[in-house]
Amino acid sequence: MINVTKTYLPDKEKYKKYIDQIYANSWVTNNGPMVKLLEKRLAEYLGVRNIVLVSNGTVALEIAYRTLGIKGDVITTPFSFVATTSSLVTNGLNPIFSDIDSQTLNMDPKNIEKLVTSNTSMIVPVHVFGNACEVEKIETIAKKHNLKIVYDAAHAFGVRYKGESILNYGDISTLSFHATKIFHTIEGGALVINDDSLVEKARYLINFGIKNTEEIPELGTNAKMNEFEAVMGLCMLDDMQELNGKRKIVYEFYKKELEGVVSFQEQSENSTQNYSYFPIILESEEQLKKIEKALNLKDIFPRRYFYPSLDTLDYIDSTQFCKISRDTSSRILCLPMYVELELNQQKNIIKTLINNI
Ligand SMILES: Cc1ncc(COP(=O)(O)O)c(C=O)c1O
Repeated sequence: MINVTKTYLPDKEKYKKYIDQIYANSWVTNNGPMVKLLEKRLAEYLGVRNIVLVSNGTVALEIAYRTLGIKGDVITTPFSFVATTSSLVTNGLNPIFSDIDSQTLNMDPKNIEKLVTSNTSMIVPVHVFGNACEVEKIETIAKKHNLKIVYDAAHAFGVRYKGESILNYGDISTLSFHATKIFHTIEGGALVINDDSLVEKARYLINFGIKNTEEIPELGTNAKMNEFEAVMGLCMLDDMQELNGKRKIVYEFYKKELEGVVSFQEQSENSTQNYSYFPIILESEEQLKKIEKALNLKDIFPRRYFYPSLDTLDYIDSTQFCKISRDTSSRILCLPMYVELELNQQKNIIKTLINNI
């Protein structure tokens, strides 16, 4: 069976050595030495100032909104994984959807400003499939209207924009380290916080709001990463360069073979790619379903990322209609994309796809 992704597991012996260290000191959670070490190494690897590790990417978004004290309406994208929107609703915030650019699949800055009202407090864009948003334009709008920006950077691990980490834009960027992601800690996530003065608050919020044995200054939750997850991250980090190179080869083979057959996401000219997904845009939902069925018959399971468009969710008070997002959602498919995908498997996927166009 070939799925859209396959979790990469680093060397077992190396992982065991770290586990031995955890057993030796019996410190398994609560901001342990491995979590601290991973935070340090990730900050260096990514080129960011402050990184706070948490238990998953959904909670990273929630903590980001609470760290910034957001209330009211939030302008966001309808073309994302459901957690981008559900994290807002869970925190009593009201998602206002701004339609995407049909080529980049990111929020189109031209649509954002029209939606700003006196109730708007924040913009939550997503670097969709790791493709950098138009960060300068978004920043200009945010500054003009005094809005905060939280980037959902769940897909953007390692992406650089104009020579520096894309995570350095906005007030906070969040990452997901779920097992399906290119860098993972089994389950996990992080906040990259650009304002040093907010780091302490985020750290209380992930630890029940507790500052010390005397003080509980914030209403918090439990969002801590544990030591076993952190050591998975330490092992993964050592392999990232090699993994990036392998993913690039898989990505470029698809690109070469499918050029002119299907449409691709337009990549930001100013940013690097991390080759985490291979989305193809088809002519119609009918064509997509035909291809999906043919691949499924061969035990190949691409995924309809992202479907459905989030402006169709039942729990959204929605008179909102994002035409481009709905149209794109109906005919976009992510092909299997992972380092261990073999060339003959990839050729089979491509052949099946072309035969069913
Ligand atoms: C864009 C986006 N945001 C948020 C998340 C949530 O991350 P997690 O699964 O770690 O909670 C995901 C995860 O899959 C995602 O793709």
